[in-house]
Amino acid sequence: MKPCVSTAHSMFKKLAESALIDYQILDPKIEFDLDATGKKIQYYNVSSQYLDNFIARFGNYRQHFYSSYVSVDSSVPPHTDIVDRVNINFYIETGGYQTTFYQSRDHDSKWTYADHGDGHVYNMDSLEQIGSFVAQPGDVYVLNGKIIHGVSSAMAQPRKFLQVSANDLDYDQVLDILDSLC
Ligand SMILES: [Fe+2]
Repeated sequence: MKPCVSTAHSMFKKLAESALIDYQILDPKIEFDLDATGKKIQYYNVSSQYLDNFIARFGNYRQHFYSSYVSVDSSVPPHTDIVDRVNINFYIETGGYQTTFYQSRDHDSKWTYADHGDGHVYNMDSLEQIGSFVAQPGDVYVLNGKIIHGVSSAMAQPRKFLQVSANDLDYDQVLDILDSLC
């Protein structure tokens, strides 16, 4: 397994590996409402030898990374992440969702999540698309959580993925670490 990267982007990168992963979902960590009908994004602790091995290969940086199982019921509006600066997503069920990255034309048209620090949700009217991808089951992507991004699908199916995240390293640092493993 080589997490070598293919194309350079400042917002996301597909890793040159395809992973079908053994895992066990543990207790819930945190959840956020996505709309008024009870649709949620839910994070769980996860036990996975595959993810443990993946993180172990980061050597001295391994203590910066943690793993989750994430279940999402619907589309997610354009936002920057509250906690995670960088996410490595291992897609299990993709539901046809497109992940789109944006830049803001109007820096005032954002509003903060209540009491959650540095994350923001953005008004679509103020945004310009700068890149996107549609993941397939088994795909592995690195995502820059501090670039505005949203996830949408006409099919409204659940989306499930395993995630290795870092909240005290930035995106370029994580890419450098991944490149150093090649
Ligand atoms: Fe996000």
